[in-house]
Amino acid sequence: MKKRAFLPLSLALSVSLATGVTSDKRVAAKEADPQSALQPIASSVVTIAHRGASGYAPEHTKAAYEMALQMKADFVELDLHMTKDGHLVAIHDSSLARTTNAEEVFPNRSPWLVKDFTLAEIKRLDAGSWFKKAYPEHAKKQYEGQKILTLEEAIHFIGKKNKHAKLYIETKAPDVYPGMEEKLVQILKKTGYLKKDKVMLQSFSEDSLKILQKIAPKDIPLIQLYSPGMLKGKNLKNELNKAAEYAEGVGPDKALVTPTFMQEAHRSHLLVHPYTVNTKEEMAEELSLGVDGMFTNFPDELLSLKKKPYISHGVASGEITSTSAVLWTRANKPSAILFEVAEDPSFKKSIKKIAGASRQHDFTAQVKVDRLHPDTTYYYRAAALPGSFSATGSFKTAPAENTEKPLTIVWGGDTGGQGNIPPFKSFSAMADLHPDFFLFSGDTIYADNPTPAVPNAPSKTMEDFWAKYKENRTDPNLRKLLQSTSTYAIWDDHEVSNDFSGPSNPLTSTGYKAFKDYWPIQKERSDSEKLYYKYSWGNTLDLIILNNRGYRDPNTKQDGPDKTMLGKEQLQWLKKELLHSDAKIKLVASSVPISTPTGKPNARDGWANGDHIDPNDKTGYEHEFKEISDFILKNKIKNVNFVTTDVHFADMIEYDPDHNGTVDYRELVSGPIGAVTIQPPKLDSTFGPKRLYAEGGFFNFGVLKADPKNGQMTVQIRDENGKIHYEGKFSIS
Ligand code: G3P
Ligand code: CA
Repeated sequence: MKKRAFLPLSLALSVSLATGVTSDKRVAAKEADPQSALQPIASSVVTIAHRGASGYAPEHTKAAYEMALQMKADFVELDLHMTKDGHLVAIHDSSLARTTNAEEVFPNRSPWLVKDFTLAEIKRLDAGSWFKKAYPEHAKKQYEGQKILTLEEAIHFIGKKNKHAKLYIETKAPDVYPGMEEKLVQILKKTGYLKKDKVMLQSFSEDSLKILQKIAPKDIPLIQLYSPGMLKGKNLKNELNKAAEYAEGVGPDKALVTPTFMQEAHRSHLLVHPYTVNTKEEMAEELSLGVDGMFTNFPDELLSLKKKPYISHGVASGEITSTSAVLWTRANKPSAILFEVAEDPSFKKSIKKIAGASRQHDFTAQVKVDRLHPDTTYYYRAAALPGSFSATGSFKTAPAENTEKPLTIVWGGDTGGQGNIPPFKSFSAMADLHPDFFLFSGDTIYADNPTPAVPNAPSKTMEDFWAKYKENRTDPNLRKLLQSTSTYAIWDDHEVSNDFSGPSNPLTSTGYKAFKDYWPIQKERSDSEKLYYKYSWGNTLDLIILNNRGYRDPNTKQDGPDKTMLGKEQLQWLKKELLHSDAKIKLVASSVPISTPTGKPNARDGWANGDHIDPNDKTGYEHEFKEISDFILKNKIKNVNFVTTDVHFADMIEYDPDHNGTVDYRELVSGPIGAVTIQPPKLDSTFGPKRLYAEGGFFNFGVLKADPKNGQMTVQIRDENGKIHYEGKFSIS
């Protein structure tokens, strides 16, 4: 059983660890927001100086420890090995080779294992000079000749420098050093550090922690460390439950920290202290996941980040035109956001814009930047003032009117629901293609599905909806994509609730507001809750974004000339845009499909009524789609491609509704990125679909490449690793 469980409740609530963790505060934190696992359960997020302030001074030397204390780290971390003659010494590696001059002093003693050297021999070594070569920018004369310290020496030194200092000690390779735990406990006792407010003990070895559990006082916090390999192929929940029997917390490699990890750990009341988090960007990412502290070589960086407002969930750009862009970011608290945009990444000559990050918008902020040059790469950064940490990104503006430039775009959707929790590899594979833009074509969140951020979904409050977006932005792959190109985000049902129709759902305005807060959306598109808009990429491509949710009649309404999905005004607008478009490719972003009958029988959500499944199904929106289809045919509008996700499989369809052998338009379907995968069902035949390809059961995304010079459009479906599953080439001349 976990130690704390032995305490009577009244005592448990009064136990206070000077680790920044209080059992009572943890309970309070849980009660304050029972909804989210993505918040610390500790009363404060602790800074653990990894091997001392080892980014600035040679690890595990007096210099590194002293610097950690000067920086006011909460803990100084110590790694322990044992000498041949049984002394515990502070060193990270099993071998002396990397961090001392052992090879020089003892040339014949390869591989220079700590266990093969006496303390007297080890004391002859220089543990500081190697640092100059490895980190010349931080080298100092005084580091030369630093010595390896015994545990006792390290404790005395640290205690003398600061009597309130706390230690975070790791038993390294305990199987090599039988009895090291007893020695450790003995020394801690002797030095007055065997107290819950003075020390935490950590190990990758469960056995070592279990020995410590037996021989150390019950209230000394134990931390189970995990490397990625230790959890590979294992059931996370079982592993963490097991750890919770003896440990107060876990120390995972930072790559292991995901919303699911946080949920399982925090549910088991385990603190989460990832290692080793060295850049402010990574620190902000770990904080966004709700960790309770972290190991870092640069304690001052974490402490300074936490002191002031900071950019908490990355940046994004979107709504690109040939002369403008909308920039987005989020801060962790109220602040003024400084956005800077420049043509060179050093920001020597930049456009500056300030926007407020207020509680009303969950501290998100957006600015529109205009007077940009067409077809140009821009760099941007955002900082939450007076904080100095800036998150950076880049985007490319659209080509000028009447120009024809080659283009690569990626599209996908269905993200973060139905048991699928970020991170999602597809986003990274998309970024690796360096697309001109990303069309996020709906279900950018699953507001109605439980996830670690909102375990009691469906989302009901503004906070729930916001939490969903924040959860997806913890995904380093999504952040990579959003920071490397621009995004046009469209909404579908899961931004509000399954299969909803905007005008009749009570949550529409809450979902809409969160969508607008978390995606870069220009006023012209969002005014009057419109959301439909056209963006031109020169004469190569017109992106015609539909709003398939905001104006629709209820799905259950019988189809007929008066049933609408788009609403009269949007339908007229769509026709006008199609008619007037002189772009080679008309890409119509519809969040629902044409021929796959989605939704429920007698409440079809896409255009098709699925009468091949039930001939009596009179729902769907086929009358309205027929009007669009007829319009395309009548006006001989060429190269119309409807693009969607939503159906949870990939599909490439050509349409020939008048059966004259000419393809009149296409439907390009990808997805999901991170939601349930299904197999392609039969299509509704109303509009004469001809399937070129269909594949289900995998995470995927779409790529569209336009080459106007060669008069060609290439469409690909790629899996989450970027592997091509389908490629089709079509004429656009
Ligand atoms: O103890 C946490 C972290 O330090 C584990 O990794 O190899 O740096 O000791 P390592
Ligand atoms: Ca360590």
